[in-house]
Amino acid sequence: PEDVRVYEFAEKVGRSVGEVVKVLFSLGTMVTKNDFLDKDSIEILAEEFDVQVETINPLDALDYVAAYDAEPNTVEEPRPPVITVMGHVDHGKTSLLDYIRSTKVAEKEAGGITQHVGAYQVEKDGKKITFIDTPGHAAFTEMRARGAQATDIAVIVVAADDGVMPQTKESISHAQAAGVPIIIAITKIDKPTANIDNVKSQLAEAGILPVEWGGDYETVGVSAVTGEGIDDLLETILLQAEMMELTADPTRRAKAIVIESSVEKGFGPVANVIIKNGTLHVGDNVIVGTTFGRVRTLILDDGSRAKEIGPSTPAGVVGLHEVPSAGEVMVAMENEKEARELAEKRKEYARAKELSKSTKVSIDELGALI
Ligand code: GTP
Ligand code: MG
Repeated sequence: PEDVRVYEFAEKVGRSVGEVVKVLFSLGTMVTKNDFLDKDSIEILAEEFDVQVETINPLDALDYVAAYDAEPNTVEEPRPPVITVMGHVDHGKTSLLDYIRSTKVAEKEAGGITQHVGAYQVEKDGKKITFIDTPGHAAFTEMRARGAQATDIAVIVVAADDGVMPQTKESISHAQAAGVPIIIAITKIDKPTANIDNVKSQLAEAGILPVEWGGDYETVGVSAVTGEGIDDLLETILLQAEMMELTADPTRRAKAIVIESSVEKGFGPVANVIIKNGTLHVGDNVIVGTTFGRVRTLILDDGSRAKEIGPSTPAGVVGLHEVPSAGEVMVAMENEKEARELAEKRKEYARAKELSKSTKVSIDELGALI
């Protein structure tokens, strides 16, 4: 709105400058032909002249995600579910995923504590499932919140020998806030001190009433030591996913969510993403937040390389100019020019916003001093 001058507005609605000035003058506002019109004035003038005005937010042009979402899919094909595993620290999230993938990530972690988000794809009865592992440590609230946002289903892990703890409740809140279905995995059932009924009653108290007690929540007891219950858990996940009829359009340009990012020796910035829609190819030009790049390498969860990846696939994307923030959305663009220009504009805008924020702070501080 601030971008329209009086004479421009007059031209657009087919009136004379004099008419516009007169209307505003009658309402007590003095303007000349080169003045910018504010939003209120435009609305009054539109009503007076009986014209439709549409105000365009300049930011809309920078919102590449909204632009992507506005284009419809042309086909809908089934896609694997994305499952985020959340829960209290040390309750057995990584061990559970290790058992499912036959790996030993948990053993290699510093202090046995997960400090980042890992994403993996597994196959069960020929069906793929993508898992996101998250840290349970209290300090990593942000990562759990993001994990819940990137997912279709949340698996909340509760250790049978420890019960519902603060980050169990926090994880439940994140999943509920994200509006995703919850499946409870009661872990460590091999332990002599395991008490499944105790966990269930604590869950019920927290508002998560198990199905077998008349509630809505599936609970599955599992052990990452003996493997007991793990098939059952995977089947429960697949059943839930089936009901959701998850689809995507692999024929479109890609849209992916960044779950974490880093700078790696020999690679430069690496964004670990999960494809939400479309297919991402080596050579694609992408924008993500305020940075951009051309996909040079796609690294799969087993370290192998791929030429292209489809919906729900996790991968490391190499080829960005800068490290994007976790939670940001990556979208493939038509060409390099488009990706670069948009990223630069977004960066400029972010900088201007940051600047106006710091100016405001200094004025406030000034006020406090006076
Ligand atoms: P954070 O990521 O740090 O929150 O921990 P986590 O939830 O990933 O737990 P992790 O898998 O690292 O396991 C914590 C400890 O519990 C480790 O010593 C595991 O060996 C042990 N553990 C995990 N699952 C089981 C289980 O099913 N049975 C038994 N007996 N021990 C388990
Ligand atoms: Mg872990």
